[in-house]
Amino acid sequence: MIPPLHLTGSSKVLVLTGAGVSAESGVPTFRGIGGLWEGRRVEEVASPEGFDADPKLVWRFYSLRREGAAKVAPNPGHHALARLEERLGDRFLLATQNVDGLHARSGSRRLVAIHGELFETRCEACSKPFHDEQTYFDDVPRCPTCAARLRPNIVWFGEMLDPAHLSRIGRFIETAGRDLVFFAVGTSGQVYPAAGFVDAAREVGGQCWLVDVDPSEAYAARFDHVVRGPSGSVLPALFGV
Ligand code: OAD
Repeated sequence: MIPPLHLTGSSKVLVLTGAGVSAESGVPTFRGIGGLWEGRRVEEVASPEGFDADPKLVWRFYSLRREGAAKVAPNPGHHALARLEERLGDRFLLATQNVDGLHARSGSRRLVAIHGELFETRCEACSKPFHDEQTYFDDVPRCPTCAARLRPNIVWFGEMLDPAHLSRIGRFIETAGRDLVFFAVGTSGQVYPAAGFVDAAREVGGQCWLVDVDPSEAYAARFDHVVRGPSGSVLPALFGV
């Protein structure tokens, strides 16, 4: 049973999504695969230390993820968020921890990809990120300008999030105040700072919703409403879109 959601003309909606939103598209979640890839801890292939130790391995990991993400499509959960944005305009902001690009493909535009983008590459030394759908299985690509290594444009474990992204989210929360309705969808709430958005939303008097097929008790305890179910059917029903 989904509790009724009342949005008024002044409500401002901030949504944080995690790997669970893409699960119904066929993208495996992090904790779902036991945090392991080919027997290695995900942190080993998704960290600056991992890249220094074996850049070829890290590029193979992300090349496989690029191949996987290219084959999948947005699901009804992604589409529901895009339709809610159409209705709310600037009173909507979507922060995603997912790097698969599915929110943008389903039409979300007021979107902050806080953990980076799978289909972007950047030079370790000199360049801005650029769109890149290539895979690199044999060699570590090099920057055509300065010959430094190119790396995936992903925020790895131990790295800082883009401060511009965090301040955009922080401003949205502060400006909304008591009009804020915050949703966390398909995220286990284990990785900060995203896991702390719910606390910031509560601090300004916002209303907080968690949508997750199997929420952890500790994370769920910080929300006003917890809806247990798959985002692909819960979000369209909740938003009436
Ligand atoms: P997790 O894999 O930790 O959590 C996924 C959550 O989605 C779990 O709580 C599941 O119960 C839930 N879930 C699974 N299928 C679902 C469905 N169909 N509908 C709704 N919920 C569902 O993924 P994240 O919380 O996104 O960081 O992980 C956060 C970050 O940790 C990731 O962005 C990544 C990772 O290491 C980086 O890569 C920097």
